[in-house]
Amino acid sequence: MTTKKAAERLQYGARKYAAFSLLVSRWTRCGVELAKDHVFVTLAGTELGDVRALHFIDPGLVMHAIAFESNRERHELAKQSETTMRDAGISLTVSAANLFDYERLNDSPHIFFIDGLGIFAWADYDARIGKMFQQQTIKEGDCLLITSHLGHRPGIDDIQKTFSGELSVLGVSTDEDVARLFRRAHPSFTLFRALTKYRLAQELKLRCFGCIKYRDTTPMGIYGYTVGAGATDLRELVEDTKTSYFDMNAVAACPPKDF
Ligand SMILES: C[S@@+](CC[C@H](N)C(=O)[O-])C[C@H]1O[C@@H](n2cnc3c(N)ncnc32)[C@H](O)[C@@H]1O
Repeated sequence: MTTKKAAERLQYGARKYAAFSLLVSRWTRCGVELAKDHVFVTLAGTELGDVRALHFIDPGLVMHAIAFESNRERHELAKQSETTMRDAGISLTVSAANLFDYERLNDSPHIFFIDGLGIFAWADYDARIGKMFQQQTIKEGDCLLITSHLGHRPGIDDIQKTFSGELSVLGVSTDEDVARLFRRAHPSFTLFRALTKYRLAQELKLRCFGCIKYRDTTPMGIYGYTVGAGATDLRELVEDTKTSYFDMNAVAACPPKDF
């Protein structure tokens, strides 16, 4: 007899949502022209604390939320959260599909939250997000929020090898400098690759407006980007002096080198 695997709730702590909310606040004050209504596209897990937090900040930021969950058991639990949240007046659709297959519903600006479980630079996100840029699923006026696991990182030799081009452009070579740079900027490497893979670096301007590190169930980073018109230069993206860095564990801003 086979027994159905018990579904486990994915629960995250207050620091995650404090970091998420702080980064959203930074975005609203970083010079972007904010529309009244936004679509929020996220990964569901089971509890959807991100949707609840965003709705509290401003229901206009989640005029509609679409949350993707590919794990069957978690999807069932997320569907229960969908019912509760709809009862509370939040327009939310939980979908069992892959977030990277999302087809844009309308021209309202979107906030994408790629809230995955691993190290953002150590996957095929460059190809997946590049395709979303190419198909204009992610486009000018959108905001992109990304979490990445900081609890461990690939070996320095692997990083040196995988990102040799980027490191050479940025003039970073010692093990210590590579480790620091990887920690604070690896999502930028991946996003820049996404653009170059689809020859879009001259078409879209990505800016990183903030990075926050926090300890939740494990050390994590959350990184925020605006997508605008123009061109993206790797050095400008990574060395932007307007990017704010914050340590949620110390509840204090931190210099980029200490991120
Ligand atoms: C960190 S959790 C999301 C938590 C949620 N954002 C919250 O704050 O409560 C990530 C979830 O996304 C699912 N997932 C990861 N990649 C996915 C993808 N490409 N499409 C759909 N679901 C995915 C995982 O199974 C996992 O349950």
